[in-house]
Amino acid sequence: MKSKILSLSALLLFASIALFNTCKHLTNQTTANTTMKESIIYGKLPPDSAFEKTINGKQVHLFTLKNKNGAILTITNFGGRVVNLLVPESSGKMIDVSVGLGSLNDYIKSTERYYGATIGRYGNRIAKGHFTLEGKEYTLATNNGPNTLHGGKIGYQDVVWDAKKLNDQSIELTYLSKDMEEGFPGNLHIKVIYTLTDDNAMKVDYEATTDKTTVVNLTNHAYFNLNGEGSGSILDHLVQLNASNYTPVDSTLIPTGKIEPVKGTPFDFTTPTTIGARINEQNEQLKNGKGYDHNFVLDKHDLDTPIAIVKGDKTGIVMEIYTDEPGLQFYSGNFMQSRNVMKYSEFDVYRNAFAMETQHFPDSPNQPQFPSTVLKPGETYKTTSIYKFKTK
Ligand code: GLA
Repeated sequence: MKSKILSLSALLLFASIALFNTCKHLTNQTTANTTMKESIIYGKLPPDSAFEKTINGKQVHLFTLKNKNGAILTITNFGGRVVNLLVPESSGKMIDVSVGLGSLNDYIKSTERYYGATIGRYGNRIAKGHFTLEGKEYTLATNNGPNTLHGGKIGYQDVVWDAKKLNDQSIELTYLSKDMEEGFPGNLHIKVIYTLTDDNAMKVDYEATTDKTTVVNLTNHAYFNLNGEGSGSILDHLVQLNASNYTPVDSTLIPTGKIEPVKGTPFDFTTPTTIGARINEQNEQLKNGKGYDHNFVLDKHDLDTPIAIVKGDKTGIVMEIYTDEPGLQFYSGNFMQSRNVMKYSEFDVYRNAFAMETQHFPDSPNQPQFPSTVLKPGETYKTTSIYKFKTK
C-alpha cells in the first residue's frame, strides 16, 4: 500500500514537472516571437482588456474578426481603427501586416493620430481650411500648417464609434458627425463596415447621408509593412500602381491643380518598382512630400482591377488593393520619427510603414476640375475599398 502511494506521488511529481516545463517553453516561445526585432514577427494579439475604457460616456472595445483560413482582423471602435491584421505567408505562418500600437492608452497618447483609423470628414488636406459651397463660405479647424488635414483638430480617428458585430467576419461602425463639427456643414450619418473575407481580404464599405449640402471624403489610414510590423524598412517593398497620372503639390502638400503624367518621373509605378529605388532623387515633388506623399490618379477604379499591388520583400506577401475611388494617396512614412512605442518594435521608425489611402483627391472642395466630393441631402455616399492578401 505504502509503495503504491509512493509511486503515485512520484508519478504526480513527474507529471507536474513535465507540465511546468511545457508551460515555460510556451511562455518563452511567445516572448521570443514578440521581441524579435529584425526577423519576421508572428502576430500576438493584445488582450481585449487593453482596449476596455469609457471615453466621453461611450464604451471602447477591441473586436476580433476571423476567417476560415485563420486570418485575423482586430478593430477598435476608438477611431474605427484597424489594430491587427494577421495574414498567412507561404509557409502558413501568420504575419501581422498592420503597423500600429498595442493598447488603447498608447493610441490615445500617440503623436501620430492616424494609425489604422477611419479618416473623415475629409481625408487629406483642404487648403487654408476654407471652401465655398452653394455660395456660402466655410472655415474649418486648421491642424497642419495653414491647412486642414484629415478632418481637422478632432477627426474621426479620435472619436468613439458605435459598434455592432454583424457576424464572425464583419463589424458595423456608425458615427454621427454633427452639423458644423470642425466647421463642416450638415449632420452626417456615417456607416463603415469592415469584413474579413474568406479570400483573405479586408473589405471596407463606407456609407453616409447628410441633412445639408456638405463635402465628404472618407478613407482608412492603415499603415502597412508586408514583412510584418517591427521587421524594419519598407523601402524594398515592390509597388505597382495603376496610375498614369498624379497630382503634384506645393510645399504645404496642397495640389497645384494640375494632373501630370508620371512617365519619366520617380512617380512612375506603372511597372513594379521598389519604394526606395528613387525616393531620394533630387526632385521638387519628392522634396515637397519629403518622399512619397501624393495623390495618384487611378486609370481604372472599378473594383475588378487592382489599383495597387505591393509585395513584401522578406515574406513575399502581396497586397492587392481594389477601390471605386478615383484617387490613391501613397504615403511612404516620411513623418515617422521614432516617437511612439509600437506593438512589437521599439519605435515607429522613419519609413518602416506605408499607407495607401483610397479616396477622392485632396483639396477637391477648392478645385472644381477634380471629381466632386459634394454630398447633398437625399443622396447616399457609398464607396468600397478592398485590401486582399496573397502569398505570392
Ligand atoms: C497622410 C498625409 C501625410 C501624413 C499622414 C499621416 O498620408 O498626406 O502627409 O499627414 O497622412 O501622418
